[in-house]
Amino acid sequence: MLPEVTATRYVTPLREGGSLPGIVEADDLGTYVMKFIGAGQGRKTLVAEVICGQLGRRLGLRVPELVRMQLDPVIGLSEPDEEVQDLLKASGGLNLGMDYLPGSLGFDPLAFEVGAAEAGQVVWFDALIGNVDRSWRNPNLLVWHGNLWLIDHGATIIWHHSWRGLDAAATKPYDASEHVLAPFAPDVAAAAATLAPRITEELLTEVTADVPDAWLDGEPGFDSPDAVRRAYVRVLLERAAAIGERITLGERSGDGPSKAPDWLRVWVDGKAAK
Ligand SMILES: Nc1ncnc2c1ncn2[C@@H]1O[C@H](COP(=O)(O)OP(=O)(O)O)[C@@H](O)[C@H]1O
Ligand SMILES: [Mg+2]
Repeated sequence: MLPEVTATRYVTPLREGGSLPGIVEADDLGTYVMKFIGAGQGRKTLVAEVICGQLGRRLGLRVPELVRMQLDPVIGLSEPDEEVQDLLKASGGLNLGMDYLPGSLGFDPLAFEVGAAEAGQVVWFDALIGNVDRSWRNPNLLVWHGNLWLIDHGATIIWHHSWRGLDAAATKPYDASEHVLAPFAPDVAAAAATLAPRITEELLTEVTADVPDAWLDGEPGFDSPDAVRRAYVRVLLERAAAIGERITLGERSGDGPSKAPDWLRVWVDGKAAK
């Protein structure tokens, strides 16, 4: 189970993305980025953060530590921003906290070099979880102490918004053309060879066990939180087996900060990136 802390002070909102997370202090003297249960997509976003965050870290990718975070909305009473007030009021009880990385910088592909092996692992992982939110427009990567850190996995495993067509979800290809690491010649074939065998039923069962029951309870079509967990395990297990052969690295649609050159336009067909 994830460790649990209680929020003691709301410091400031983070406005880069859309969900209005906040920097919050907690009773363990830690500082966290708090993701609110009352925000936009609600608990599904937090479920995705837990599953993908825990899974990514278990695969050796850098993801800040996660905690369960209790909130009493009263800590936001002096907050002048009405939007923040409403969010806090709608989020009493259990929320998600992510270790705050002080002094981290947003990833800039022109300023930070990523090796083909690491780029491949991140792209493969994003393909596995169906992450559409790691584009050059919105990298959701931080650079901290000279290393790349992965954040913001709320917009992933999108099939859990309907739970229909799970077989299609398990085999759905991933277009990485807009991925922020596409220009770094990601070695997806090597990543698949290393990471896919590590995605086992056991690992996925452990990772999904970290999702609080309260965020899975009452899910339409399932009779228990564990039944929902098994559905996550099933799709991710099936995706892990085949996704390496279903990743496209094509031409970027718009004007990115560093448009991929012709020689980088490859179709990864499961043998090797040409
Ligand atoms: N763990 C963290 N440490 C430091 N800054 C963070 C951390 N998590 C998020 N941020 C900052 O907050 C912004 C918004 O967080 P994010 O998780 O991307 O939420 P969203 O995009 O849904 O608003 C990020 O772009 C980043 O600048
Ligand atoms: Mg974001």
